[in-house]
Amino acid sequence: MFRSFAAKAIVPPAIAVTGFVIVCCILLYSVIKTDMLNDTIRHETNLADTIVKSTRYAMLKDDRETLRNIIDNVGQQQGVEHARIFNKRGIIMFSAHPEDVNKLVDKNAAGCIACHAGPVPLTSMGRMEQARRYINEKGKNVIAITAPIYNEPECFNAACHVHPPGQKVLGTLDIGLSEEPLQKTLGILRNRMLIFCLMVLLLTVGGVSALLRRNVLMPIKELSEFILAINRGDHERKAPAYRDEVGDLAQSFQEMSQKLTKTEEALKEANATKAGKGNTPSANS
Ligand code: HEC
Repeated sequence: MFRSFAAKAIVPPAIAVTGFVIVCCILLYSVIKTDMLNDTIRHETNLADTIVKSTRYAMLKDDRETLRNIIDNVGQQQGVEHARIFNKRGIIMFSAHPEDVNKLVDKNAAGCIACHAGPVPLTSMGRMEQARRYINEKGKNVIAITAPIYNEPECFNAACHVHPPGQKVLGTLDIGLSEEPLQKTLGILRNRMLIFCLMVLLLTVGGVSALLRRNVLMPIKELSEFILAINRGDHERKAPAYRDEVGDLAQSFQEMSQKLTKTEEALKEANATKAGKGNTPSANS
């Protein structure tokens, strides 16, 4: 494919290095992306738990006004796409979007199905199962967290309302946060990694090519020019002086060509004398 030695020595390694660097960068990016997503989900689950805890007292007191206030305030926080509390029948009791209140959500909806997949609903779920990612009706990427609100002795012993002690889950808090900050950070990371990738490529391919050229390609070129010159009959040409295989090769080629020249001369001389001897008698006769 490549005629010159230089192209053969540089192009395939450069392509291989490029491939490796790109594959490694893509792997690294996807690992970092997963880590960051998990980290974001962990943070948001903590946030959801904090909200559940902060509503606890209002719930115990059956103070719906304060609860509504808390959810409204949470909903006004930048980056919060929705915040709502379901009762155990799946009816939205409180929501930062007032138009959603009293709507009934199917228990097969995303966020509910994690507990309601089997015939008997689960009472707890893993941290990562609490999260779901989707695109909301405004076209925004959202990470939503469902946090169960558990029944506690204070709840079923409270004078005000009637949660039977056997009921494990009183309801759920559902909070959705915009993925925008995460996507922004990931975008910055992507650009930086692209620049880094290009830098590594330029430096390695450039550096390796320069070293290869200096240490391998130039000596070989000199050797080849030397041999071509000798072949043309330029015996005055000096052998390239390298203390390596190229030098050895040049040296032995020079010696070989010198021997050949000597042999040729000796042969010529022998021929000449032979011709002389052969001629003399005939000239005499
Ligand atoms: C943490 C897990 C969990 C999540 C999340 C959850 N539920 Fe439940 N749900 C339960 C449990 C446990 C019960 C049984 C309640 C009890 O202890 O009596 C239940 C009961 C119910 C019931 C009444 C019993 C039935 O099976 O018909 C409905 C309706 C319901 N959930 C709807 C929902 C909806 C809608 C959502 C999503 C907004 C949801 N649930 C989210 C665990 C969950």
